[in-house]
Amino acid sequence: MFDRIAGVYDVMNSVMTAGMHHRWRERAADLARLSPGDCALDVATGTGDLALELRRRVGPSGRVVGSDFSEGMLDLARQKSGDVEWEWGDALDLKYESDFFDAATVGFGARNFSDLGRGLSEMARVVRPGGRVVVLEITTPQKPPLSVFFRFWFDTLVPALGRVAGDADAYTYLPSSVRRFPGPQELGSQLAAAGLRDVGWILTAGGIIAIHHGTVA
Ligand SMILES: C[S@@+](CC[C@H](N)C(=O)[O-])C[C@H]1O[C@@H](n2cnc3c(N)ncnc32)[C@H](O)[C@@H]1O
Repeated sequence: MFDRIAGVYDVMNSVMTAGMHHRWRERAADLARLSPGDCALDVATGTGDLALELRRRVGPSGRVVGSDFSEGMLDLARQKSGDVEWEWGDALDLKYESDFFDAATVGFGARNFSDLGRGLSEMARVVRPGGRVVVLEITTPQKPPLSVFFRFWFDTLVPALGRVAGDADAYTYLPSSVRRFPGPQELGSQLAAAGLRDVGWILTAGGIIAIHHGTVA
């Protein structure tokens, strides 16, 4: 499915979020607390925008790996920059050594993991003690009026936009994947269970976006 939608993915993100997704990625990258010279991993990197934010923070002496299992997505990421190491990889079975990275991030990817606990544990495993794990995701707002707007936006508008973009199925899958994803509290607990301490989260965009973060114990 991700190979299929790769060509429209960036445009759809900008249309669906009125361009706000760039700001959310910046905030997620800030929460990775990287310094020049650091080494960071963005899993389920897709077309690579979050990895590029990490790249800006580690400077020329740093290193960023963007990994995904969709070659269609990775091809587009490769066209954006040669300064990130774009690699095929399964987020549930990362090929990197334990404690290798200073931080690992995932943007709008965790809800697609077929085993969320395993994906989070893998991210925590490859980050050194004291390093950071950040998860940027869409979440379901609980209170009106945002909850009402969200239902209309996600259940009606997004699938309609998907039909226009030529892939109704993928953009019907999107709201259903968000609905079955754990809420902020539960995701926080799962991050703690994956081996992170000082877990916290920021809700933004009226409670539609959650950015979870924690430190590897
Ligand atoms: C909605 S896109 C998000 C892309 C990008 N991170 C962003 O911020 O826009 C989800 C991505 O997760 C990838 N993905 C889902 N499950 C994965 C897994 N188990 N291993 C690697 N990539 C995965 C898909 O191929 C897709 O590129």
